[in-house]
Amino acid sequence: MSNDNTTAGDNHVIIFDTTLRDGEQSAGATMTHDEKVQIAEALDEMKVDVIEAGFPIASQGDFEAVSEIARKMQFSIVAGLARAVPGDIARAGEAVRHAKRPRIHTFVSTSPIHLQHQMRASEDEVVEIIEKTVAQARGLVDDVEWSAMDATRTPLEYLARCVRQAIASGATTINLPDTVGYATPGEYREMFEYIRRECGDDVVYSTHCHNDLGLAVANSLAGLEGGARQVECTINGLGERAGNAALEEVVMALRVRGDRLPYTTGIDAKQLVRASKLVSVASGFQVQYNKAIVGKNAFAHESGIHQDGMLKHAETYEIMRPEDVGVRSTTLVMGKHSGRHAFKTKLKELGFELGDNALQDAFRRFKDLADRKKNVYDEDIEALLEDQIQEVAERAKVMSLTVIAGTGGPQKAIIVMDVEGQHITKEATGSGPVDAVFNAVKAIVPHEAKLSLYQVHAVTEGTDAQAEVSVRLEHNGRIESGRGADVDTLVASAKAYVAAVNKLQARRRLHAQAEAGADSTVAAAE
Ligand code: KIV
Ligand code: ZN
Repeated sequence: MSNDNTTAGDNHVIIFDTTLRDGEQSAGATMTHDEKVQIAEALDEMKVDVIEAGFPIASQGDFEAVSEIARKMQFSIVAGLARAVPGDIARAGEAVRHAKRPRIHTFVSTSPIHLQHQMRASEDEVVEIIEKTVAQARGLVDDVEWSAMDATRTPLEYLARCVRQAIASGATTINLPDTVGYATPGEYREMFEYIRRECGDDVVYSTHCHNDLGLAVANSLAGLEGGARQVECTINGLGERAGNAALEEVVMALRVRGDRLPYTTGIDAKQLVRASKLVSVASGFQVQYNKAIVGKNAFAHESGIHQDGMLKHAETYEIMRPEDVGVRSTTLVMGKHSGRHAFKTKLKELGFELGDNALQDAFRRFKDLADRKKNVYDEDIEALLEDQIQEVAERAKVMSLTVIAGTGGPQKAIIVMDVEGQHITKEATGSGPVDAVFNAVKAIVPHEAKLSLYQVHAVTEGTDAQAEVSVRLEHNGRIESGRGADVDTLVASAKAYVAAVNKLQARRRLHAQAEAGADSTVAAAE
């Protein structure tokens, strides 16, 4: 399906993902450059129509992420956000310049409360700002989106005046956000009906709903009924405060209830769970178990009556199939008796095609895991491979770890690491076993970064589950994250910590080279 402009007469809905902008803006969800690019690639593959990749004026990091995403996307339109300020618009234009299909998204507040307290501007002055800034953006790209911030608390006649001006100045998409999550579905629908009557249907109207009252998805769907044909949303509903409308919920509501909501999207829903996992790990925001569509329990049936019904006929309690959103129905397959051929076939099924050496290495790791863990699930194999991929760029590696923990004495860790081919052993104590492990790593690879996140996820069920640990280190405003997986949580912790330290040091080496004049090395690595 195409992502060309769609107006109210036509029932195709443009999915605009803002995980990397509104989502990343949520407190504590900062993502690294590489994580942002990885998420954008997943969204592009999933056929998201528009990716809002960031807010280029906000920082050099945001600018670089938007630029790289703009260069890389094959399908999606890439948007950069800009306030109604000439410098912002120029920077956004510069960041999206190399996209196959660039978009500038510019916004200004329109509600009386924002005009009085934030903008300190009159209604006439704001209309003038819209005229100039939208025209500036349109001078840079053909695809310009204009948003009326706090639209749902703006008197309708004034809102229509602003929209008319934005259209006259060249906006091609008009977004009417419920910035503070205040609207109800009925009034949100009526707002679109009113604006379309007043301003015409030559542009695409867009919803952008926040979830402060838990109504973001309901309001987005009501906006479609009112004639909007673009929905702005985020994976896992990530976003400012209580978040934005969740992309996966909007897409599946349209798919499952096409009888009442006759709108289509081009999204490949089978990739929803994968995208959700990616965003969860990168943002550090775990998905709640009972989250619609992508939660761990979204397709789990616990009560006896439900299980009985499911076994007799799945549709008794399931309105969509787990496979439809990318949850694999058969999870248990591999074990210690599985051979190389079965393993290779399994990898292919999971989407990994490895060269001979990488395959050999992965098989050895799989056998090692199968010796220690009775049931090896698909998720275990994926975690193992992610760990392997990360290791390729490793300078330092964990070789072995012994931890003395428990009550009645200091917690101690003895670690052996391979640092550029040299085996080094160190021991350290700490206020707990994880702290002792991190101190032992630090004794071998010293650094000044602070630990800003430590998170453990069980990849699969049971006490022999593999643990996946995420660690974030922060130094001079720069964040590096590392992941590690193992059946032993402390080993996974050590691997994750070392992965983050490796990235920190790699970046430091590159900067040192850049300062010494080797700019080309940085360009190649950034
Ligand atoms: O919520 C909001 O109003 C926004 C705008 C910048 C579109 O995020
Ligand atoms: Zn928002």
